[in-house]
Amino acid sequence: MIEVPDRNFGLDLVRVTETAAMAAARWQGRGDKEAADQAAVDGMRAHLTTIDLDGMVVIGEGEKDAAPMLFNGERVGTGKGPKVDIAVDPIDGTRLTALGLPGALSVIAVSERGTMYAPGSLVYMDKIAVGPEAAGMIDLDAPVDRNLARVAKAKGADVNDLTVIILDRPRNEHYIRAVRAAGARIRLIQDGDVSAAIATARPDSEIDLMLGIGGSPEAVLAAAALRCMDGEIQCRLWPRDDSERQWARDNGLDLDQVMDTEDLVGGDNVFFAATGVTTGEFLRGVQFRADSAVTHSVMMRSRTGSIRYMDAYHNFRKLREIGVTTLD
Ligand code: FBP
Repeated sequence: MIEVPDRNFGLDLVRVTETAAMAAARWQGRGDKEAADQAAVDGMRAHLTTIDLDGMVVIGEGEKDAAPMLFNGERVGTGKGPKVDIAVDPIDGTRLTALGLPGALSVIAVSERGTMYAPGSLVYMDKIAVGPEAAGMIDLDAPVDRNLARVAKAKGADVNDLTVIILDRPRNEHYIRAVRAAGARIRLIQDGDVSAAIATARPDSEIDLMLGIGGSPEAVLAAAALRCMDGEIQCRLWPRDDSERQWARDNGLDLDQVMDTEDLVGGDNVFFAATGVTTGEFLRGVQFRADSAVTHSVMMRSRTGSIRYMDAYHNFRKLREIGVTTLD
């Protein structure tokens, strides 16, 4: 007898990121980050309310008072389906979108209720990530040259064959110096470390390792994708100042703990979906045509390891006829 896996929510989730990406992409290059982000949030939320899930936003747009929609703790979905945790980044790369630069994505992840890590007010984490070949070989606390040597060994390569992707920020200077000293190559990026982490696990990418201090929400979203791709991410909270240190202590967050992929997103049924906003190496951005648009997305699931890429053609005239106006 053939066993059919249970329901894959991938398509439902992709419809959420498609809607957000189309709304955000209208703002491409128009220099207004806030408007792009608001459009993506509105688009994402409009679709999320229709999905048969009892969803709790664990990673959203921030705390309730600052974020009117998709705030942490908000319940989304029809409430009828399974109880799940939800992480969203309506745009990972709002600045990229506003400036019309490559690589902005709309992203969502879902896992069973109670399995997603909530970093609260701590904005940043120190991160190291690799794809499946080097999973199990990295250690956030080890020196950079040792991590590079172990990744190289796992891949049957030399350290100077490796390419490390790093967010270009002053706080990551020590990583840049250490990678250069070890002789590996570097790809510096301006923004977007969810797709940077995913790049370590994509067979068609030249990226071998991601290093650096970046957003905490992005770490959880990257962990969801790497759970599906058999990669690995390790992170530690990186408080910016004493008030964040105090907040962590008051709220029981351990600033010394190195969290691995499963600490960030546990459970055995993780879903991840993303749609390109602006064209990058991973996904093409939204292409608008006369009364239509084309989107490029990915959907993944940890339980089955399925990774699907999808082109979607959206016919605005037909959507209007059935009362869908969120894309106008
Ligand atoms: P947003 O577009 O959601 O603001 O995130 C972009 C991003 O580059 C993330 O990919 C990254 O984790 C984070 O910002 C880094 O933060 P900062 O820009 O403050 O250094």
